Amino acid sequence: MPKHYNPNDTYFRQAQKQGYRARSAFKLKEILKKFPTLLTKRKSNILDAGACPGSFLQVLGEESRGGKICGVDLQKIKPLPKNYPAELCLIQGDMFDTETEEAILGFFGDKKADLITSDMAPKTSGIKSVDQWRSIELNQRVLEICESLLKYNGNLVTKIFKGEDFEEFWVDEFRDRFEKAKTFKPRACRDRSVEMFLIGIGWKG
Ligand SMILES: C[S@@+](CC[C@H](N)C(=O)[O-])C[C@H]1O[C@@H](n2cnc3c(N)ncnc32)[C@H](O)[C@@H]1O
Repeated sequence: MPKHYNPNDTYFRQAQKQGYRARSAFKLKEILKKFPTLLTKRKSNILDAGACPGSFLQVLGEESRGGKICGVDLQKIKPLPKNYPAELCLIQGDMFDTETEEAILGFFGDKKADLITSDMAPKTSGIKSVDQWRSIELNQRVLEICESLLKYNGNLVTKIFKGEDFEEFWVDEFRDRFEKAKTFKPRACRDRSVEMFLIGIGWKG
């Protein structure tokens, strides 16, 4: 029997209790624990695409030990507290726009990112195949962004909806662009959800 959908599940309650803006915080925590080499360098430059409401940013701040963190979203991200542990820039913009890319590079002082995270999700239409294809398009854009904004040997964590086009994207477009590439579904992703994360370690440029 499938479990009932429960928006107020354990992770939701934990997020509220621990002051995270969304339950997604636990997905990123789990990813960083499972793949510790994603974020080893002190003072990394990190781009978080699709950052609203900001729980990935909270976790990245805790884990990054300084550095510069840039959060971008179509929606306005509410400022984080003044004692945020890294230099932070919040941009309301579309990751498909070149102005957004320029603003990110400007903040990083024309240096590239050590780590890019993307939790971007399309506005869901309710039609599974359409939503999954849109998620692939977002990820194709993430790879384009890597070309202009990710350092050689940098790392990527990106969310994708697994569907019929996934395998082709994974094999033909994603896997070989990194020294090591893995798929991972954190326990904090809902059981019935088709979402999972692609982990790219060592961008070949
Ligand atoms: C699941 S939410 C992100 C949650 C966030 N990672 C957190 O931890 O709080 C997905 C976000 O992707 C954003 N998004 C979708 N398409 C985008 C685009 N083209 N450019 C920027 N953000 C986008 C949406 O506005 C939405 O806020």
